[in-house]
Amino acid sequence: SGSSGRAIINLDIEGPVISRHLYGHFAEHLGRCVYGGLWVGEDSPIPNEGGLRLDVVEALRALDIPNLRWPGGCFADEYHWKDGIGPREDRPRMVNTHWGNVEENNHFGTHEFLALCELLGAEPYISGNVGSGTVREMSEWVEYLTRDGDSPMVALRRANGREEPWRVRFWGLGNEAWGCGGNMRADYYADLARQYATYCRDHGDNTLYRIAAGASDADYAWTETLMRQISCFGCEATPKNFFQALSVHYYTLTGPWEAKGSATEFTTEDYYRTMAAAARMDRIIQGHSTVMDAYDPARRVGLVVDEWGTWFDVEPGTNPGFLFQQNTLRDALVASTHFDIFHRHAERLAMANLAQTVNVLQSVLLTDGDQLVRTPTYHVFEMNKGHQDATSLPVHLTTSDDARRQVGDTSLTTLSASASVRDGAVLVSLTNLDADRPAEVTLDLRGGTLAEPTARILTADRLQDHNTPERSPVSARPFTELGVEKGALTLTLPPHSFVTVSGRRD
Ligand code: AHR
Repeated sequence: SGSSGRAIINLDIEGPVISRHLYGHFAEHLGRCVYGGLWVGEDSPIPNEGGLRLDVVEALRALDIPNLRWPGGCFADEYHWKDGIGPREDRPRMVNTHWGNVEENNHFGTHEFLALCELLGAEPYISGNVGSGTVREMSEWVEYLTRDGDSPMVALRRANGREEPWRVRFWGLGNEAWGCGGNMRADYYADLARQYATYCRDHGDNTLYRIAAGASDADYAWTETLMRQISCFGCEATPKNFFQALSVHYYTLTGPWEAKGSATEFTTEDYYRTMAAAARMDRIIQGHSTVMDAYDPARRVGLVVDEWGTWFDVEPGTNPGFLFQQNTLRDALVASTHFDIFHRHAERLAMANLAQTVNVLQSVLLTDGDQLVRTPTYHVFEMNKGHQDATSLPVHLTTSDDARRQVGDTSLTTLSASASVRDGAVLVSLTNLDADRPAEVTLDLRGGTLAEPTARILTADRLQDHNTPERSPVSARPFTELGVEKGALTLTLPPHSFVTVSGRRD
């Protein structure tokens, strides 16, 4: 026997829109994410367009990825964009001091990144350098990218072969300013964010969405300081427009930082610890939102979770600075429950970015030479893509007592759900986190019916199962065991599974 749950969904009571940008990605100059993962160079035998790996582009296009954050992470605060333009053979080299102390040849720069975004149909999200750059450097980068007409930076761009400006909306004012981005205090960084934001101009009709480098985890004091700096509490009705959003980073760790544990070899107890850590995302978003509400009750300032995902020990024998880890069904369930949390906070949450797209941390893709693997996490993004820009449908979920499990000081609910509707297409996502037992779920749909319901499932025999170039046991499959009982849909979710139910709202 297993647990049970009833999810009441009113098909005619609509919540906030789930921005497609909650399904965003992040690619840093780190290990084999950019070099080898996205970029192989024009002379590579691996099929490419202008050096960009076509198998990876095709796999990402199938996810409808809405945006891509680049060039870091920590790397962003030591990146000097002018080193990455012009003829590749003339570009200066540098040392990537954060990630493995390896040489960076700057072959993947501004033009290559924007070409990649164009191929993907994704919006660029560029993180500027506050930690070791200058206001002028950042200001000129914005001008180079987005200005039309005539100006020194426009002339430079044209000399490098790009006539028209690009549209770049998302602009990061540094990264982790409290840590690798300069070890700053919140007040000091808040002043810098205001200063840098001032000189990141809107050129023509390109309007920047400036994102201040926000807090780590539950550092609500950092968020409070930033919000205070953009508001004139008591004397202004609305926040000033220095920046339009602030970020927060939260990674799911199973063990302590010094011993995070293996991505593939873990016990059931480790698994539940991972899931309890993942569930903390809800409290963290809630905490930052509550602080923001005090300064911005109209919720015009966005919260951007621009780094999230699992962080395990690197795979044995790989460079510790490259953060290469395998990806199992456990990672997929971390992703599916994160999305339920993100959907619930759709009103404040403007964007979220998985760390990272290829070959680093909780990737959706892994490459090995010319081989490509779609990880279990990839399938969650694919199965959930109907939630992008859909209207959320609040889910009222009640569960039996045995769908709760005490993990340390966390009471973990082993059932999770969210739902949305877009153009009449309803998508319900359901996760059973229980490692060993099934969960009987009743979808009590009110205010309408679901015509022609179909379902898909992602699960595997073992939580540790993962995909390789030879075998992909953790892939989405049709799930046919949908029942109807007194107008409600019933289904039994197998242990450790993620299921989506789709249909048309009637
Ligand atoms: O994603 C890896 C690193 O994690 C990023 O560079 C940094 O921002 C964070 O600490």
